[in-house]
Amino acid sequence: MIAVSWNEPKKVIECKLPITKPTSHVRVKRKGIKPIATRKETLTDRDYIEWQISYIEGDKLIELGEILSIAYNKYVVTKKDIESLVERFKDTKTFEESYEISRSITEEKFEDFKVIYEKTPILRYELKDGCYIDIALRHKQKAVGYQAMVCIYIPLKNVNPQPIGRRAQSNEVVTWNPEREHILGLLKAFLIASRKHRGDIIQKVIPKALSTEIKDC
Ligand code: ADE
Repeated sequence: MIAVSWNEPKKVIECKLPITKPTSHVRVKRKGIKPIATRKETLTDRDYIEWQISYIEGDKLIELGEILSIAYNKYVVTKKDIESLVERFKDTKTFEESYEISRSITEEKFEDFKVIYEKTPILRYELKDGCYIDIALRHKQKAVGYQAMVCIYIPLKNVNPQPIGRRAQSNEVVTWNPEREHILGLLKAFLIASRKHRGDIIQKVIPKALSTEIKDC
């Protein structure tokens, strides 16, 4: 789980993201696509941190849930911001209900085999600072149906210390400061991703975030 806190002198939210843990929910990808071994390769300005961000664990807010709670308490986002998103998306069709994974057969052969490509829809929401949020559709593991995955991609130039032009140090952790547009963008993504995510956000995450007072942290 990613540590989230409020930095009072700087008046910013801080997230501590590990950049050497490719099997975790946070990893570094070249052009946002190919995972890279950050201890072995020189990092570049085309590399992004991919964070498959969570929001609740049991009934405890974590990650986006915690970010939202702090953001509301510290006036980074308002009740009106949150309520207008809910109002806009509470009855719309979700991504999971609207798209599917398809396959296209080609004339291409590999040895004795036909080549088939699988087409996976991805919704992308681009932010002004070079970050973007993807919602990707996957087949559910060990079940029937689809599952929407939400990830935010953060350019390495947006974190501190900036690890560009060198390799990552062992167990290196960088700090990222989510702002209003990232928080509302992520909320929007979960509200349209699926019925399950929308229900979680509207019924659990928002009520808890808006009713929890933050002790100074
Ligand atoms: N459930 C919790 N976090 C999620 C994420 N980032 N994407 C999809 N489902 C999730």
